[in-house]
Amino acid sequence: MKRIAAQDAHAGLAMGGHDDRARADFAFALRNRVTSAWMPGTRTVFDHRAADAFAARHGRRPQSPAEIREAMDSDPWYRFYLSARRASQETIWAAVIPPAERLGRVAMPEGAKGSLRLDPRVRPPAYVGAIDIHCMPGGYLADRGDGDTGAGAVYDRGVYLYMSGLMGGLNDAVGQLAVRFLKARLPDFAPARILDMGCGVGHATLPWAEGYPEAEVTGIDVGAALLRHAHVRAESLGVAVQFVQADAEATGFPDRHFDLVTSSIMLHETSSRGLPAILAESRRLLAPGGVMLHVDQPRFDDDDPWATFLQENETHYNNEPFWRRYRSLDLEAEARAAGFGRVELATLSADVVRQSQNNAADDPKARARGFLALLAFADA
Ligand SMILES: C[S@@+](CC[C@H](N)C(=O)[O-])C[C@H]1O[C@@H](n2cnc3c(N)ncnc32)[C@H](O)[C@@H]1O
Repeated sequence: MKRIAAQDAHAGLAMGGHDDRARADFAFALRNRVTSAWMPGTRTVFDHRAADAFAARHGRRPQSPAEIREAMDSDPWYRFYLSARRASQETIWAAVIPPAERLGRVAMPEGAKGSLRLDPRVRPPAYVGAIDIHCMPGGYLADRGDGDTGAGAVYDRGVYLYMSGLMGGLNDAVGQLAVRFLKARLPDFAPARILDMGCGVGHATLPWAEGYPEAEVTGIDVGAALLRHAHVRAESLGVAVQFVQADAEATGFPDRHFDLVTSSIMLHETSSRGLPAILAESRRLLAPGGVMLHVDQPRFDDDDPWATFLQENETHYNNEPFWRRYRSLDLEAEARAAGFGRVELATLSADVVRQSQNNAADDPKARARGFLALLAFADA
């Protein structure tokens, strides 16, 4: 098994001391155990126990995700699995918060290639701050003022543990996939200005800056401590990014300012009012000939109610309130409603998919499902 020390070093990474690393190793191993060893057992109890019990009550086996949930909810193994899954999530945060807190106030880099512009007037939308998404204590918006990188440091380590390292040492697999996809799909596209919305700590922003070295790359987020960490991290990795605190629904940038507006795993965390506003803002910001590319989880597969049932657990038990709705949306229609004429959907496949979608390790469909790219063109 990959050890936790495998996360790539950079300034601001809260690895802590020996005991912190031991706790992180344990959290990493527990998460692996839950997703790789115990999750498959849920299917076994469904096939050999829970579905039969449902059939005895209803005269037929469960079919829809809701019926599967009804069949499974009282099953003792499934309940054990859910508890272990929740406990493993809380163990991750318990392991990474103390070393992040001990970072205290972090000095912002001098002589930076990129920049950081925070704006305390930005009012984050309610859906970002109303609950702690992924049960991360304090959520994305926790901020103790100057030099506080805490929420970013916690997120950076937490993602690595949650994804069992499958996002790579820099947690950048989705960004890398997105850049590779766009270069293959539009080989002559040479954006001069790129905007990464909901950039968090810049996991997907840096691949854009590296993939298009001639471009000026801006990452926006509403979380100040996330952005401070993003800035420290990017500078220490030698990548120039302009980080700006802004709401993706109303960024404040001029019309037609960017050639590429992108995001990575942000849209599924936005509300039914926020998502259309973000797509409309993407359209407003694009120069003629510009491209929008939002990469996120795929639609639920109507032919696979079992997978949908499992994946809906993110909404039920991991504080992802919009996940289920997002994954049932007609994104093409959403993009058209935002003013895009040409819209495409494409699947980006990756090993990270199995883990990120809560699929059992041996689910052959999971890899094929991939991430979903929403690509749209601001015609000249
Ligand atoms: C799951 S994280 C993804 C972060 C990063 N894109 C990545 O790939 O790791 C979602 C991010 O979107 C940000 N976010 C959500 N809604 C936003 C909005 N309306 N404006 C700016 N940022 C937003 C959150 O603060 C959070 O950092």
